[in-house]
Amino acid sequence: MYILLMGPPGAGKGTQAERLIDKYNIPHISTGDMFRAAVSQGTELGKEAKRYMDAGGLVPDVVTIGIVREGLSKPECANGFMLDGFPRTEEQAVALDGILKELGIKLTGVININVPDSELVGRVTGRRICKQCGATFHVSFNPTKVEGVCDKCSGALYQRNDDKEETVKNRLQAYHAQTEPLIEYYSKQGVYTEIDGLQAIDKVFADVVAALESK
Ligand code: AP5
Ligand code: MG
Ligand code: ZN
Repeated sequence: MYILLMGPPGAGKGTQAERLIDKYNIPHISTGDMFRAAVSQGTELGKEAKRYMDAGGLVPDVVTIGIVREGLSKPECANGFMLDGFPRTEEQAVALDGILKELGIKLTGVININVPDSELVGRVTGRRICKQCGATFHVSFNPTKVEGVCDKCSGALYQRNDDKEETVKNRLQAYHAQTEPLIEYYSKQGVYTEIDGLQAIDKVFADVVAALESK
């Protein structure tokens, strides 16, 4: 399975990716997670990425394409991967086509989780993430049994720096201006499926799996 997950901020890409990597035993390549790891390690990449992330904008293509090329070239990606949050611009999509061609890989499916903006701000501002294992929860839609404590590993939960309401609005703007046009790009390649992301998490997962397995 060579899967590409698209969708606006808060659509549920990370939530579905967590399940898909378990089901198909494939590595998770999330550019957002890679940038957040670099920020917390204080690397040069992290320092650069942070400027854009905190403002809700996109990290420059040349930087983002470089880290994805490096990730996809690793041997563990040869038998499948779960790309989450990349590509986000036409330049990234064209670069990805080139990288996949070099590696001799064809995408199994491009899944777009569709959720209207009106729903997304609440999803993002209510999100809580485990510091220890990275599992994602939501204060109302997917709460932990004990407030502030991860169900999976008992780690402490935190809120992402860019999950403030003002920043989310900028992220949505960047999505509509730069990423949404990729729907047409992938529709033309015949690999595109849209999933209704307003459904419950389990139902979204069932639809994603059905779409991938029909390819
Ligand atoms: P990134 O980390 O990719 O953030 P994003 O795309 O904004 O998406 P999110 O991670 O916020 O949402 P998600 O779809 O994963 O939703 P989740 O499953 O967590 O990118 C962050 C930043 O990094 C960017 O702004 C940019 O600066 C930079 N960046 C990253 N990639 C880049 C690229 N390619 N190019 C340039 N810059 C890049 O779910 C959200 C919440 O909703 C959770 O609380 C969850 O529990 C809940 N939820 C999930 N599904 C449901 C459901 N069905 N019903 C109810 N609640 C649900
Ligand atoms: Mg995510
Ligand atoms: Zn945890």
